[in-house]
Amino acid sequence: MATNLTINGEQKSFDAPDDMPLLWVLRDILGMTGTKFGCGVALCGACTVHVDGKAVRSCLLPVSAVSGRAITTIEGVGTTPVGAKVQKAWLDLEVIQCGYCQSGQIMSAAALLASTPTPDDSDIDAAMAGNICRCGTYVRVREAIKHAASERQT
Ligand code: FES
Ligand code: FES
Repeated sequence: MATNLTINGEQKSFDAPDDMPLLWVLRDILGMTGTKFGCGVALCGACTVHVDGKAVRSCLLPVSAVSGRAITTIEGVGTTPVGAKVQKAWLDLEVIQCGYCQSGQIMSAAALLASTPTPDDSDIDAAMAGNICRCGTYVRVREAIKHAASERQT
C-alpha cells in the first residue's frame, strides 16, 4: 500500500514497509541523500530531521509514525527563516570540516533556535549534545548558533 508523506512542503507517495526507518525512505527511496547515516541507533545525530518542527533521529523512526506530519530535511530547512539564518551563520563562521555530521548539526540548531531564539550555553548543550562530530567542530557550532541568534534580532 502506498505511503504518503509531506516532506519540505511537498507530498510524496511511495511504497515502503510500515516499519522502514524514515532515514531509509529519504535516502534509498526518495533519493534525498542530504540526511546522513552514521550509527543507525540514534546515538550520533547525523540523521536528524524535523518532524512538526522538532529535531528527531530518523534512523530509528518508523515511516508509519510520521504519516500526516510535517517533515523537514536539510534540503528544505533553508527555506525557513530560522534555517536560512543558521545556514548563513555556518558559512560566515566556516563551521564545516569534513561535513558528514553537519546536516544533523544544522537541523538540531535550527530546531533549537525556532523554540529558543536566544539560547544560552546550557540550552545549546542540551540541544546539541546528541550531535557527534568526529572532526571536533563543536566550538564553531556553538559560535555559529550564537551568531544566528544575534542575526535574528537585527
Ligand atoms: S544515524 Fe541516526 S543517530 Fe546516528
Ligand atoms: S565536520 Fe566532520 S564529522 Fe563533523
